[in-house]
Amino acid sequence: MYFFFVWTVAFVFPSSSISNPKSFASSMIPGICRNPARSWNPSPLPNHAEFTPDWTAKTTIIPICCHASSNDQQSSSPGRIRRLVLTPEGRTKLNPKPDRDFYAYPRFVTHVDNYFISTLTNLYREKLRPEMEILDLMSSWVSHLPPEVKYKKVVGHGLNAQELARNPKLDHFFVKDLNQDQEFQFEDCSFDAVICTVSVQYLQQPEKIFAEVFRVLRPGGVFIVSFSNRLFYEKAITAWRDGTDYSRVQLVKQYFQCVEGFTEPEVIRKLQAADETLTGKGKESKSPFSWILNLVGSFSPSDPFYAVLAYRNFKPVYE
Ligand SMILES: C[S@@+](CC[C@H](N)C(=O)[O-])C[C@H]1O[C@@H](n2cnc3c(N)ncnc32)[C@H](O)[C@@H]1O
Repeated sequence: MYFFFVWTVAFVFPSSSISNPKSFASSMIPGICRNPARSWNPSPLPNHAEFTPDWTAKTTIIPICCHASSNDQQSSSPGRIRRLVLTPEGRTKLNPKPDRDFYAYPRFVTHVDNYFISTLTNLYREKLRPEMEILDLMSSWVSHLPPEVKYKKVVGHGLNAQELARNPKLDHFFVKDLNQDQEFQFEDCSFDAVICTVSVQYLQQPEKIFAEVFRVLRPGGVFIVSFSNRLFYEKAITAWRDGTDYSRVQLVKQYFQCVEGFTEPEVIRKLQAADETLTGKGKESKSPFSWILNLVGSFSPSDPFYAVLAYRNFKPVYE
């Protein structure tokens, strides 16, 4: 069925006729976006400075990769959880008090270093487009979205309203403890992208959250989860605390894979190599000893960068 879908897109619809990714994707996958009546009362923020991004590229969407599902009936049930990833023990935290208490006071700090932030901002430059509607999950007072880009809409979520109110990128925000309630008050297929930065380790019900993200994403929408090796130790789940950088990447991959309909997750790892640290450059090293320097890079003062991302149903290609 999916091969037929890809074939149909490639041959029956020339790319020039597919200029609106949202309407195209929705029309191509009938019934895949259900709209149960869900109400949402966003908290509007004061107007932020308006500016017009210099963005002239034509938007064309060509689905090149469909989720390999042998059961079409299943792929039309958004957000179905295939299996649980975590054991009950893996979900526990050293500090079992409500997360809202822990985040009751604003922390006007940055949680990762400049290397991590610039790597993430560049990833957003590559993956996100101005016409997108974006949900920034587990957000704070800082935004890692590129400052020069004005997106169609950015909705923020977090646990501290004072922090969110200072976030310059948010058009609206809401406060919700995702360990208490995993349901978002958004209709199906409301966003083109969902982002979650250095926070996934605090989720005790990640399977439900990833399924809910799937539900609110439009077909072709992307979920980008980024993290480093820093954490509020007492608030991270046991499965994360007890892991290594490698096992944490595997864990986030499994969060995606446990939800029917996400594409195969892509992993992006960037460790600033020792020679980059010394020269201050962010480029791949050409040195014959670069593998040694990369090894030593793990001792560099920079925060390692990891991102795992996947798309709802298919990966779009923008020309
Ligand atoms: C390390 S901060 C990262 C904030 C932001 N993403 C950034 O990059 O600066 C972790 C964030 O996770 C959010 N968080 C932690 N536990 C949460 C929970 N149970 N429900 C919702 N959000 C939570 C908090 O709002 C907090 O801002």
